[in-house]
Amino acid sequence: MLVFAHRGASADAPENTLLAINKALEQGCDGIEIDVHQHGHQLLVIHDHWLHRTTNGTGQLKEYSFEQLQALDAGLGERIPTLWQVMECIAGRCMLNIEIKGVKDVQLVLDNIEKAQHALNFTLDHFIVSSFDHHLLRAIKEHTPDLKIGALTACNPIGYARFAEELSAYSVNVDVSFMDEAFVLDAKRRGLKIFAYTVDQQADLARLEDWQVDGVFSNGPGKAKAFLAA
Ligand code: G3P
Ligand code: MG
Repeated sequence: MLVFAHRGASADAPENTLLAINKALEQGCDGIEIDVHQHGHQLLVIHDHWLHRTTNGTGQLKEYSFEQLQALDAGLGERIPTLWQVMECIAGRCMLNIEIKGVKDVQLVLDNIEKAQHALNFTLDHFIVSSFDHHLLRAIKEHTPDLKIGALTACNPIGYARFAEELSAYSVNVDVSFMDEAFVLDAKRRGLKIFAYTVDQQADLARLEDWQVDGVFSNGPGKAKAFLAA
């Protein structure tokens, strides 16, 4: 079972910062998940479009210039990184799940992925692009059919197989609290991979491993890897 660092190693460093990325790499994760918002022509790695929870700023991203956002403290003196800075930091050392949240122009994401394959040590296979916004995923898939798509769901929708198949999704990425064995078996029968978020409890890890779930997103990837190896 693959272990992805959720927002980087967010139990040990401020979420979605380069410190959290570096800690996740140190902890030997298989992949890293980050959240991305578009700000003008920049892609910023931050979970919310409101600033107060994860930075010393207030208000919304769109109310600030890029330079003003770069001056904010995202915790322990860290800055809000760009997607490209995160890619440079990882440089192909593990997989990267880019969860697109507030993104209007998916071409910006695709351009970064394309460039990372030339300038950094990534292959297309290193990437999964996921989103709760399945319209964005459809646009991504139409442009780059070989890119792995993770169809996110925060619940257990009756029609999940239909949208996963329509998107030619690689995986369904499901809130662990809505996951049961029947769901996993059904998805596997359809050739879909299953990823669960957010998995920090050993009992959940054991249960998911037992069901042969393909991957988990964990705030403490090092601990999750150690538990699974034991
Ligand atoms: O990609 C899995 C998970 O990150 C989705 O929910 O709100 O933590 O971005 P959220
Ligand atoms: Mg996320």
